[in-house]
This record gives sequence, structure tokens and C-alpha cells, in this order.
Amino acid sequence: MSEHSHSRQECVTSAMARINALLVVGARPQFIKSAPLIKELLSHDSKVSLTIIHSGQHYDHEMSSIFFSELELPPPKLNLNVGSGTHAYQTATIMLRLEEFMRKSRPDVVIVPGDTNTTLAAAIAAAKAGIQVAHLEAGLRSGDMNMPEEINRRLTDHCSTLLFAPTRTAFDNLTNEGLAKNTRLTGDTMVDGLQDVMPIVKRKEGDILQTMQLEERNFILVTLHRPSNVDDPDRLEEIMRSLQKAAKRNTIMFPIHPRTRERLHTLGVRTRKRTGQIRFVSPQGYIETLALLKNAKCLLTDSGGMQKEAFLLHTPCVTLRSTTEWPETLRGGANRLITNPRMIPSSIAHATSKDAYHIGSSNPFGDGAATQKIRRILEHEVSHKDVHLTTLHQETRIHQNATP
Ligand code: UD1
Repeated sequence: MSEHSHSRQECVTSAMARINALLVVGARPQFIKSAPLIKELLSHDSKVSLTIIHSGQHYDHEMSSIFFSELELPPPKLNLNVGSGTHAYQTATIMLRLEEFMRKSRPDVVIVPGDTNTTLAAAIAAAKAGIQVAHLEAGLRSGDMNMPEEINRRLTDHCSTLLFAPTRTAFDNLTNEGLAKNTRLTGDTMVDGLQDVMPIVKRKEGDILQTMQLEERNFILVTLHRPSNVDDPDRLEEIMRSLQKAAKRNTIMFPIHPRTRERLHTLGVRTRKRTGQIRFVSPQGYIETLALLKNAKCLLTDSGGMQKEAFLLHTPCVTLRSTTEWPETLRGGANRLITNPRMIPSSIAHATSKDAYHIGSSNPFGDGAATQKIRRILEHEVSHKDVHLTTLHQETRIHQNATP
């Protein structure tokens, strides 16, 4: 096939043509930020035909399938079953298995949400196969290249053809890196998702608190899972000592991520029951997490998404990290960064004191219409392209070059 006839196969979508989109998810936060977009793309008047692939990066029921059932998402067409492993193992394995799938399914665009190893692997595999890549939640920057997510999000942005920026800050970050042309300021899909589920949360929160024997605004919610906090035994021990101190004044509710559970077991901390006033529970579903967050006196976390959810639900937040990819949450003291674990008790006390927290009048994360905007952009800006032929064409050339 000549270059000329090949380029003729590319055409901008007409009003009637359907876009074949492949959404690749695999880790807990990706299910949450994708859920409202999945619903939007599956709506009856959508011109996008959606296929969902699960990388298998998260596989426990409470890390994965609970989100599909709670958010009423269709099951993925395929699970690549990558499982746990090193960063290189996960990234490379997802790339290989996804490439195989894309060779047969020939999507017009691959949508990659967030900043996990699944995000990066899918973005590289698609870009290398000549497929358009749309990055959902593009342009976040913590500035900390020791975070695996910072590497993932920077590389993903730079091999994407459409970048959906959730905030003005994210848009500006991409502009500063020379990516303005392909960037669209859409707002954050997590706002849309939150608006969808809040009526359910409000209906169920009473029962959830009662079952967990908690009272409204009378407990501290803790989630910690970043390697920088939990992988170093000395630091983790120090964090636990500080939590014990904070627990003298407050009940602490600690839904425990499998990575953290494993590390605490190595330290000999039993997580099956109460340790003083610290109550360890399994990772919670989305509805339960939002009910806990909405009713907590304060959140202590190292998660990215939960800093933002706390901001949106007006719960004061203390973040055990030196940087954040969501600087908007720091406005008005709604979120405070700390690095020294010994500051945990005093920071919680400060965050829960009456005059520490001011709710801003504006919401920098959008108005709940991000998914509609993204759908329209996909419908109008993704072009049809015969990927299968591109791939074969490239492979033939590589083969020919290799022949002596
Ligand atoms: C990953 C993401 C991180 C995200 C987090 C949300 C990367 C680099 N990190 O971190 O951005 O904030 O998900 O949870 O992609 N495990 C289980 N069951 C599971 C999944 C994991 O037991 O279903 C255990 C395994 O021991 C595994 C460890 O948790 O080795 C870590 O899982 P992994 O997906 O590698 O990283 P996360 O810390 O979850």
C-alpha cells in the first residue's frame, strides 16, 4: 500500500460516523474518574462506540469489582490480568497484551484516565501503534519526580493527541510545556461523578455510620498508601506512633489499602481489629468512602483524589506529602501539606479548630459538565484512521530493514 492511498484512509469524522473508543482502566481511582464518562459515552445519542478494557492492575473485589457494581458500570470486554509486580513488569506486560487486543479491534482513539502504570502503558502502546490517545485528567503536576505518578502523567501527556485538562492550573501547566494546541479545558469528571452519586450517599449515610458505630463529625478518616509513606518501615512506624497520639482525642477510621496492610503486617501491627482508638477496616467502596468523608471531622491522607473530594465535600484535609498535584485544594486552608509525621496530631487539631477552615465561593474543578464536553470533543475531533494497516505497514518496514 502506498503512502498516498494510506493517507486517503484517514478522514475527519462526519456528523453520522461513530468513533470507536477504547477506554483502558485498571486501578481504583481510574474507575471513579471514568464512571461518569462511561455513562455519557453509552448514552443513547452518543456517537462514540465504547469498549472498556481492564488491565487487572487492581484485582481484589474491594479494589476493583465493587466499583463496577456500585457505579453500575458495564463489565469490561477483556481483563489483561497483569496483577501485581514491579513498575517495569506492569507497564511492559500491559503494553504487550493491549497491543495484541488493539491489533484486532483497531480503535480510533484510546482513552487513558489518570496517572497509574495502566495509564502510561496504554498511552505508549496506542501512540506507538499510531492510534490517537486522549488523556483524561491531563496536565496535573506535583513537581515531584520521585512519585511514580508524576513520571506517568508527564510521559502520558507528551504522547497524547487530545489532553483533557480538569482545571485552569492543569491547562497552564500543559501550555508551559508546549502542549496547548491539543489541550482542552473541560473541568473535572470527578465533579460530575460526585454529583451523580451524592443522592445515594445521602440516602445511605445514616445506615453506613450506624453499622460502623460512628457519629457525624466525630471521627478522623485516614487513608495512606503512597510508597513514600508506607514502604520505609521507620517512617511507617513513626506515622503509627503519631496516629496513636491523635487517637487519644479522636476515633480514627482507617480503611486500609493492601500495600499498607502488607507493610504493617511486616512491622507486626495487627490490622484485623482495633488498636486503641484506631479502627482498621478493609478498603471501602465509593459510596461508603464518600459517606465517611462527608461525615468525618477531618481527613488525613496521601491520596490525590481524596484531597479533592474532601475539598468538594467541605471536610478539612491534612495531606502527608511535601507536594500536591491539586494546588487548588490548598486555598483558604482547606488542605494543608505536612511532611513530618510528628506533626499529625497538632495538624489535625488545627484543621478541626473553628477558624482554620474557610470554604471558598468558587469551585475550581468545574460545574459538573466535564463529561458532556469531553464527549463532544471526541465526537468532533477524533479522526478515523486505519490503524491495522498502519501497524502492518510499519512492521513490514522493520522486517525489511532487519533482512541482511
Ligand atoms: C496504584 C497507583 C496509584 C494509585 C493507587 C490507588 C501506580 C504506579 N500507582 O498504587 O497511583 O493512587 O493505585 O490504589 O500505578 N494489591 C492487592 N490487591 C489489589 C491491588 C494491589 O493486594 O487488588 C497489593 C499488592 O501487594 C501490590 C500492592 O498492593 O503489590 C500495590 O499495588 P499497585 O497497583 O502496584 O500500586 P498501588 O499502591 O495500589
